[in-house]
Amino acid sequence: MDGNGRWAAARGLPRREGHRRGVEALRNAVRAAGELGIKVLTIYSFSAENWTRPAEEIGDLMALLKRFVRNDLAELHGNGVRVRVIGERSGLEPEVLALITEAEQLTRANDKLTLVVAFNYGGRQEIAAAARKIAEAAAAGRLDPASVDVAAFERYLDTAGLPDPDLIIRTSGELRISNFLLWQGAYAEFVFLPMHWPDFDRAALESAIDEFRRRERRFGGLKAGTGS
Ligand code: IPE
Ligand code: MG
Repeated sequence: MDGNGRWAAARGLPRREGHRRGVEALRNAVRAAGELGIKVLTIYSFSAENWTRPAEEIGDLMALLKRFVRNDLAELHGNGVRVRVIGERSGLEPEVLALITEAEQLTRANDKLTLVVAFNYGGRQEIAAAARKIAEAAAAGRLDPASVDVAAFERYLDTAGLPDPDLIIRTSGELRISNFLLWQGAYAEFVFLPMHWPDFDRAALESAIDEFRRRERRFGGLKAGTGS
């Protein structure tokens, strides 16, 4: 979800207004994903690096997150959405931690759509944390280092048990991954849209999915039906 600030600047509005409109776009995107039968939707809501922004903007983003959970959790739950939060939790303010736990606990039995919220998330940090946990388990004699392969490693990531993303969409015209799902996105298809996030809607999601459908995915192999 990129481009909230530029969306606001282009209209002579404060960045805060861009973020507020961004939450509305998010609400619509979650509804559209459910209607389109998407099973897992991951949103990059706040990166591990976003803490370098001015305190005022961080305060605005935290306030919006809290308001989103308080206002929308009941509707999400009613629509069968399971909420799962990935990212580093230590150091988060108690109020935010409590809302994360509440959202996950309330919705844990839902299975229509899993909404994965990447919050205080960084792909490198996630991989380093997994390596640390593996090293600790090995040092304690609970894990055989020789058993650490791709499947074993994945069990230590925040996304354990979730499928890899098929499609990663970034708005605002930036052509970067910015520390998002570095491990999980190894074979994801990327669609970069020029629009800023507050303008993202169901039609934009459908156009990205249409583009995804036209891609030929080989996962390092050969085109299906191609011999030798
Ligand atoms: C994305 O919009 C929102 C979050 C990072 C939470 P930006 O705030 O990055 O907006 P730009 O990129 O400055 O326009
Ligand atoms: Mg940005």
